Amino acid sequence: RRIAVVYGGFSSERDVSVKSGSNISKSLERLGAEVIGFDLKRDRIASLLSLKADLFFLALHGKFGEDGTVQGLMELAGLPYTSSDSRTSAVCFDKEITYRLVKAEVDLPLWKKVISEKDLEGWKIFPCVIKPTREGSSIGVFICDDASTLINRTRLLLDVYDSLLLEEYIDGREITVSIIDSREGIKVLPVLEIKPKRRFYDYEAKYTPGLTEFVVPAPIERSTLESIIEKSVAVYKLLGCRDFARVDGILKGGVFYFLEVNTIPGMTDLSDLPMSARAAGMTFDDVVLDIIEAADK
Ligand code: DAL
Ligand code: MG
Repeated sequence: RRIAVVYGGFSSERDVSVKSGSNISKSLERLGAEVIGFDLKRDRIASLLSLKADLFFLALHGKFGEDGTVQGLMELAGLPYTSSDSRTSAVCFDKEITYRLVKAEVDLPLWKKVISEKDLEGWKIFPCVIKPTREGSSIGVFICDDASTLINRTRLLLDVYDSLLLEEYIDGREITVSIIDSREGIKVLPVLEIKPKRRFYDYEAKYTPGLTEFVVPAPIERSTLESIIEKSVAVYKLLGCRDFARVDGILKGGVFYFLEVNTIPGMTDLSDLPMSARAAGMTFDDVVLDIIEAADK
C-alpha cells in the first residue's frame, strides 16, 4: 500500500513537522507500507494532488497544515487523508472559536480576545497570558507579570498576528490527554503530566531533551482523573475530531482548565502523544497503525 507522508510545510512549526514526518515515515516503512515523503512547499501544492497514493498521512503542524486548509484541498480532490476534516481542523486551530464552542462543557481560564492594544484596557488580572489565537507549539505565548510587559508583548505579537487571546495565568499542573480513534473505538491514552524546568512548557521546553520531566500516568486522584478524561472525550466528540487528537489543559485545585485541542499532535521523539502511548504499552508503530486504520473507517 502506498502512503504519502505530508510534512514540513511553511508554518512556524515546520521544524517540528519535519521530525514528526520522519518518525511517521520510518514507522510506516516498518509496517510494510510503500512510503512517499512529501515536503509541502508552496510551489509543490499542485504536485501533491497528482501524487499516486492510497492514503495521505498529514504530519503537518500549524498554519496551512493543521488549520483545515490542506484538509480542504484533500476533500476537494477526493483524496483520503488522516486526522480531522477541514471544518474541525479550522475550528480547533482557532483557540477563540474553540473556547466559544466548548464553554458549556469545560472550565476555561478567564479570557478576552485582543485585536488591538485598546482591548487591554481594564484588564487587571496578573500574571496573565497573551498568545496568538492561531498558532502552535507555544510559539508567541508570553506570561506577563505586569501591565507594561503585557503592553510590550501585545505590540510585538500584533505586528505578526491579527488576533490574540489574553487570559488569566493558571498556576497549576500542565496536563495532556491523548485520544486515538482506533478501529475499536475511542482510546484514551494514560493522562500525562508535564513538568517543565522552565516557567512553562514553551517551545524550548518542548523540543530540547532534558528540559521537561514527564509523569505518566499522572498521579491524579481518581474522580478528578475520570472527570478530566470524560471532559476531554466530550470535547473531542463535540468538535468532531477524527483519527487522533490531543487535549491540553491545566489542573488546579481539582479543576481541569481546558486550553486547546491539537488535531495533528506532535509525533517527535519528545512529543506527548507517543509518550502516553508508551505508558499504555503501545509502540509508536501501534499508534500509527491505529491512525491509518481509523482513517480507513
Ligand atoms: N503543536 C505541536 C506539534 C503539538 O501539539 O504537539
Ligand atoms: Mg497547539
